[in-house]
Amino acid sequence: MSTNILKINKPIWFMRQAGRHLPEYRDLRLRKKNFLDFCFDFDCVVESSLQPIKRYDIDCAIVFSDILVIPYLLGQEVTFKKGIGPNLEKLNLTDLLNLEQCDRKQAKLNNSYRAIKRIRFLLNKNKSLIGFCGAPWTVACYMIDGNSRGGFSLSKDSIKKSKNKINAFLDKLVDVSINHLVKQYESGCDTLMIFESWAGLVDFKNKQDILYKPVEKIINGLRKRMIRAPIIVFPKGLGTGIIDYIKNVNADILGIDYELDINWVIKNISKDIVLQGNLNPETLVRGGSKLEKEVLKIKNSVGHRKHIFNLGHGMLPETPIKNVHRFIEILRS
Ligand code: CP3
Repeated sequence: MSTNILKINKPIWFMRQAGRHLPEYRDLRLRKKNFLDFCFDFDCVVESSLQPIKRYDIDCAIVFSDILVIPYLLGQEVTFKKGIGPNLEKLNLTDLLNLEQCDRKQAKLNNSYRAIKRIRFLLNKNKSLIGFCGAPWTVACYMIDGNSRGGFSLSKDSIKKSKNKINAFLDKLVDVSINHLVKQYESGCDTLMIFESWAGLVDFKNKQDILYKPVEKIINGLRKRMIRAPIIVFPKGLGTGIIDYIKNVNADILGIDYELDINWVIKNISKDIVLQGNLNPETLVRGGSKLEKEVLKIKNSVGHRKHIFNLGHGMLPETPIKNVHRFIEILRS
């Protein structure tokens, strides 16, 4: 085998690569007061999605949007408070089940799909464009609790007390998520990602219904529509439960959070699954010798296994740009 093949660089990108750690994003962000207005503005989406590519020449762009465009589309009020995070209109499960998609809001989301076409046109052909949505459970957590301050206690309670309603509500989110991913794919995304940030909140006996089945329904829905794009899942906070998760959810790429040990993951997850992650975002903030050590650890551990370099959660706003350059330099040298 030619040694050149062994030297092929593995892809690199960062969850939340477009965002507040970039001064050019902070400048652009000033154009819109509300975060969702920014997510629905054609020029803002095109520009912010391409900013990390222009600065770092990494291998994947991710569409600038948010998992909470889905509640907005369904008619729930969504606001983002600076330094506090998302805040959603207080609605009970019955109200949530009665929400219906509204054309005026769909029109706003259509700007995002138009922006994807433009990004695909501007992006070098050898770079990927990732479209995404939140997994139904994670989106439901925000829709039921309204914010993350109470540890999503209402959502957890609804699994115990209103099992039928929560299952029906997750199914509703499955349908909207499939449509949203299909439109992103048709507009030019070649890879699709499902963020399950709050997987860790669900106890073992409810994982099938709350975590696995809804995500599996989304993936089957995409495959039924002949969408063959690779699908990345990122179930955060499962610990060793990630083995069971990926046996039940038929995805191509598995995001590994920063709490998992990469060597354990390699031993326990089938080689057919491409791995993605898992550097701790704090290590990227810290930089220096710790960053070098951790990046090399991942690099050496994954060896020739199919792997995408990324973080084990989203990039933090305080991440120094020079550390990101260093991360890339270590991997490409
Ligand atoms: O670069 C990218 O990754 C693309 C854009 C992206 C954003 N949010 C932009 C954003 C993506 C992929 C997301 C996903 C997302 N959003 C998740 C899943 C991943 C994760 O972090 O666990 C979740 C849970 C959300 C919900 C959300 N959106 C929260 C909790 C917050 C507030 C916290 C924060 O970081 O401020 C947001 C706002 C948000 N989404 C910002 C950005 C750049 C910051 C708002 C701003 O710039 O004004």
